[in-house]
Amino acid sequence: METSVAATRRLRCTQLALRPSIMAKLDILTYPDPRLHIVAKPVAVVDDRIRQLVKDMAETMYEAPGIGLAATQVDVHEQVIVIDLSETRDALQVFINPEIVWASDNRKVWEEGCLSVPEVYDRVERPDRVRVRALNEKGETFELDADELLAVCIQHEMDHLKGKVFVEYLSPLKLNRIKSKLQKRGRARM
Ligand code: NI
Repeated sequence: METSVAATRRLRCTQLALRPSIMAKLDILTYPDPRLHIVAKPVAVVDDRIRQLVKDMAETMYEAPGIGLAATQVDVHEQVIVIDLSETRDALQVFINPEIVWASDNRKVWEEGCLSVPEVYDRVERPDRVRVRALNEKGETFELDADELLAVCIQHEMDHLKGKVFVEYLSPLKLNRIKSKLQKRGRARM
């Protein structure tokens, strides 16, 4: 779930230029890139390599700007998600090997967007509350009850890890329109 957020991060960009090894902005795959359909593997060990990936993904999400990013979207096929729903962009949430351990029967429709599907927003129905179990950056297990936008965002990002993009919930007609629109855009930029 990556609806646009007004805040930009020019200051961080400057810091990045001075210390290029600290963080790196990664390229985000665009639908219908087939690599968005690769199923991510669980992270075996939460080590410095994974912590660096988390930093790079956070930087990429803040720069975009977006509110969530899955590793799949930066062509890394391991189960890592970053989310920040705060206005101030300083409340990063990290989910490694996330699992939904409970979902409400009650469902709700939200309008979703995605950094991998630029300029497309549409309605998706999902359980309105979920309990997620995951590892944090230290490799510790935690559980979290999520509702509202956080519940939507976690489910949207977990779909990416399974190789599913939110537009695939839409009708085949809508999906084909979106594909051809994005493919035309891709060609125009080449
Ligand atoms: Ni997305």
